[in-house]
Amino acid sequence: GLKKKEVHVLCLGLDNSGKTTIINKLKPSNAQTQDIVPTIGFSVEKFKTSSLSFTVFDMSGQGRYRNLWEHYYKDCQAIIFVIDSNDTLRMVVAKEELDTLMNHPDLKHRRIPILFFANKMDLRFAVSSVKVSQLLALENIKDKPWHICASDALKGEGLQEGVDWLQDQIQ
Ligand code: GTP
Ligand code: MG
Repeated sequence: GLKKKEVHVLCLGLDNSGKTTIINKLKPSNAQTQDIVPTIGFSVEKFKTSSLSFTVFDMSGQGRYRNLWEHYYKDCQAIIFVIDSNDTLRMVVAKEELDTLMNHPDLKHRRIPILFFANKMDLRFAVSSVKVSQLLALENIKDKPWHICASDALKGEGLQEGVDWLQDQIQ
């Protein structure tokens, strides 16, 4: 059959935001794992959409590993940035990390798409995706196409909408 176009994606965000859970849900059901543990360093995963074959670098969000992120900026063609919508206390930390990466020389002025997941929408104290985009000041992102989706990675809700958007950006 037709060979799908390969895309390198970087999955970033604070520890415990749900990155690995999201990537796991995007894989075919027979490739999904049941128990997800905090990522050490990073892990390379693959999933496919109708026209694309994604290779995802699922990075650890723990403070001590965040210095690894920048080494993968050069080769990535898209970014998935995950936020725990329930963790309003650390939203400012998420914003700092986002600002740092947006200003990195290997990403600055590159029109690579950024997909945000406002994750953990199922939790009682989660704020809306509109509120998350305000707290992260996403309207300031002028040089890259971006999109934010509310998601519940445990149920898999909101993930397809995000990936459809990403696929449209890359075509
Ligand atoms: P690091 O690898 O440490 O950077 O974390 P991570 O961003 O990969 O988070 P991970 O996917 O390991 O999920 C952390 C915890 O949040 C796990 O207990 C998940 O089950 C839980 N979780 C992930 N997504 C959701 C969600 O949408 N809702 C709820 N309620 N829990 C979630
Ligand atoms: Mg992880």
